[in-house]
Amino acid sequence: MKILVTGGNGFIGFNFIHAALRKNIHVTCIDNLSYSSKLNFDKKTHKNFTFMENDIRDKGMYEFIKKNQFDAIINFAAETHVDKSIHSDIGFLSTNVHGTHNLISICRILINDNSLPNHFKFIQISTDEVYGSLKKSDNPFTESSNLEPSNPYSASKTAADVLCLSYWKTYGFPVVVTRCSNNYGPYQYPEKLIPLTFSRINNEEKVPIYGDGLQIRDWIHVDDHCSGILSVLEHGKLGEVYNFGGNCELTNIECVKKIIKEMRPNEDFENHLLFIKDRPGHDRRYAIDSTKAFNQLDWQPKISFDEGIKSVINWYSENHDWVKTQLNSKNFIEWEEKHY
Ligand code: NAD
Ligand code: TYD
Repeated sequence: MKILVTGGNGFIGFNFIHAALRKNIHVTCIDNLSYSSKLNFDKKTHKNFTFMENDIRDKGMYEFIKKNQFDAIINFAAETHVDKSIHSDIGFLSTNVHGTHNLISICRILINDNSLPNHFKFIQISTDEVYGSLKKSDNPFTESSNLEPSNPYSASKTAADVLCLSYWKTYGFPVVVTRCSNNYGPYQYPEKLIPLTFSRINNEEKVPIYGDGLQIRDWIHVDDHCSGILSVLEHGKLGEVYNFGGNCELTNIECVKKIIKEMRPNEDFENHLLFIKDRPGHDRRYAIDSTKAFNQLDWQPKISFDEGIKSVINWYSENHDWVKTQLNSKNFIEWEEKHY
């Protein structure tokens, strides 16, 4: 099998490509190498891998996709940081909405011209954030929950998600959409809560907590998310949406506490927190019901948070050069100065 992964130099795409290569899938990756894509592949050890610097908004993708005859395209490429989208949303609309539209409209034309394999499948990596926020007493989101995004990032992801589904309904375009909860794992850019917590504690700095810190996220290890996407690649039904969640609801304080307890077992974790102004439009709670993925894809998350977070902390410690390169980048320094 030969697939195109977009945004494969980012956190989840990079982990996914390694999982796909382990299954002997031939992978081509395109990425525009934006600020969050500081990842390199070792071409010598990955013979079934090709990389090309490119942008999903590029009209030249037509010739590229036609020439390569991919069996599937998996669209990870996106602007992904909620806080950044609150400061400025234009790049989010451009990549997340127009970039996705560029890819699916090109693929639709190629399908009409019989220029893609009959079994071609487009997988859109969406997010649980399209559902908006839950109250404490609400049941977790299912695939038929209302879509009520709260910030420009999640609104742009919702637009792309429903655009893909509209292509299925209108044109029979062969798409499957996945909506996963918050990922953690190796190579996550330190703007996100878990790598930020590691970096701050490691540098003897306080961890910024928005508002009261009682917002809830449903954490999933990136390897579990990747195994879900591989199942969709193999067995996902066209036109369907699949939720993936970690069955692990934690308040932000509980999540950060677990990391601090692991890194500084003898210290009072509360001394490491700095409560700051809340994020505007901050979703209070995410929780995902993955029953459909369990029933139809035989998928379930396998890595418990306690086990996963230990290994991820070890990974960040052992790969501290990588972390330091991100923290010392112009982009990250400017972001911290502007935002915190
Ligand atoms: P990331 O920011 O680490 O990676 C995104 C990648 O996309 C980067 O390598 C970036 O350079 C690339 N990119 C951005 N704009 C591009 C463009 N116009 N053309 C080509 N490449 C471009 O993000 P991530 O956390 O790996 O997220 C990947 C996908 O998974 C996103 O679509 C995101 O919405 C979705 N998702 C993320 C999470 C999470 O918790 N991180 C949860 C659910 C879904
Ligand atoms: P984040 O990792 O940005 O993911 P998302 O916003 O997509 O859920 O944030 C996870 C949670 O952590 C979210 O409720 C916001 C909160 N948070 C903080 O309290 N402080 C921070 O500095 C950051 C980056 C996030």
